Amino acid sequence: MTNTRFPDGFLWGGAIAANQAEGAWNVGGKGLSVADVATFKANVDVKNYAAHNAISRQVVEEAALDPTDGIYPKRRGIDFYHRYPEDIALFAEMGFKALRISIAWSRIFPNGEEQEPNMEGVEFYIGLLQEMRKHNIEPIVTLSHYEMPLALSLKYNGWVARPVVDCFVRFCNVCFDYFKPYVTYWLTFNEVDSICRHPFTTAGILPDCLTPGKEQQEIYQGLHHQLVASAMVTRDCHAKVPGSKVGCMLTKLTTYPHTCHPKDVELTLIKNLDNYFYADVQVFGEYPRLTLARWQREGIEVQMTPEDLEVLKQHTVDYVSFSYYMSMTESASNDVERTPGNTIVGVKNPYLESTDWGWQIDPVGLKISLIELYDRYRKPLMVVENGMGAKDTVVDGEIHDPYRIAYFKAHFEQMREAINMGVECLGYTSWGPIDIVSASTSQMSKRYGFIYVDQDDLGNGTLDRLRKDSFYWYQDVIRTNGESL
Ligand code: BG6
Repeated sequence: MTNTRFPDGFLWGGAIAANQAEGAWNVGGKGLSVADVATFKANVDVKNYAAHNAISRQVVEEAALDPTDGIYPKRRGIDFYHRYPEDIALFAEMGFKALRISIAWSRIFPNGEEQEPNMEGVEFYIGLLQEMRKHNIEPIVTLSHYEMPLALSLKYNGWVARPVVDCFVRFCNVCFDYFKPYVTYWLTFNEVDSICRHPFTTAGILPDCLTPGKEQQEIYQGLHHQLVASAMVTRDCHAKVPGSKVGCMLTKLTTYPHTCHPKDVELTLIKNLDNYFYADVQVFGEYPRLTLARWQREGIEVQMTPEDLEVLKQHTVDYVSFSYYMSMTESASNDVERTPGNTIVGVKNPYLESTDWGWQIDPVGLKISLIELYDRYRKPLMVVENGMGAKDTVVDGEIHDPYRIAYFKAHFEQMREAINMGVECLGYTSWGPIDIVSASTSQMSKRYGFIYVDQDDLGNGTLDRLRKDSFYWYQDVIRTNGESL
């Protein structure tokens, strides 16, 4: 019989990242992070990721000296740092069982290399976690979500250099020591595959500081350091936090062949394997042979010690989490229309509608992704990001957002079908349950929330929180554990 309800204990909730929500960039001893130099570019097409993500050492150094938050929206966030009790209360009112947050590394280790943590930062997160527990909200904590200390980027070119591994392990151990009374579910690196798409945001790697001709190799070296660090902190978390569950987090860039031409099918296969290989390492504990062979063919030499390979093998993850926003197609032909997705440009699918940002809306793709991931990894899954960036309009203090409700409804129905087919899924946290600053474009006007935040792209507004129509709709879904769908 088909269940209309989700499994008992299903973790319904939402997900945010420190750098997109907290603001308070220079408060409580926090150091600068890579997010604090991301600029809002008003005159650039929102579909032009290359321009939005363009960065150089000179730009970063100049930004680091700017004492204002003017063109740096992530310095402002939505002031979650000061307003979290109100926001958590709103999440509780919606019935949240879980909230995914991240810890800003630069709040705990402002420059990344200190030996002792900044206790004001530690206490901030203890307060936040206690507030969540007060409302029976299960924390899901990401240890690295696009916010490494800027000093490590400038000194080492980020994760390219080995010493950053030790800095990260020290930071994570502080998190385990102080936050273990409150946290069971941990994630190491947000969208671990994203290092190849935006190396600065993900890993503090400045493209103009890479060795000419060795750019790809150095980025993969940075990835290897992250994968090793992830395994090391999985080991430490299991040792320090009894009953803890540590997961990996992948951007699920589900790709279909544009046609049934075997060349399209082959290219699609390669593309999907390339998306999987990051999680493959974290789940299976070793690099896929196909990846190593490709690196060899391309002359990419990644330094790996026997100890690295051992730690990868020994300390694999307990569950697999992923973000899912859209799907794409792949084609061998150049004569095809292209469209943007999550920091990537793919071939347009004629059967799908897109958001105003060009991301193709594909609920069935979520079901396909859940089935593929579960069949491949045989580990519990968690959907830790999903949602639709849209422009909202406030009319007489109300926000009517049927487009958002339609998006979520269709995705939840597909998720339920996957679960009914036997997929083990622990929970679902929508992206940005309250409007926050966009990761890719630093816009405030790209809104994902059930809760509206009165602030524009330039930081004007009261920061008041308003419940959208979708707020009440999601509240009903959670209250009935999906039956109201
Ligand atoms: C994910 C990131 O890739 O997509 C989030 O983990 C991000 O940080 C989300 O916010 C949505 O992307 P954007 O660019 O619309 O904010």
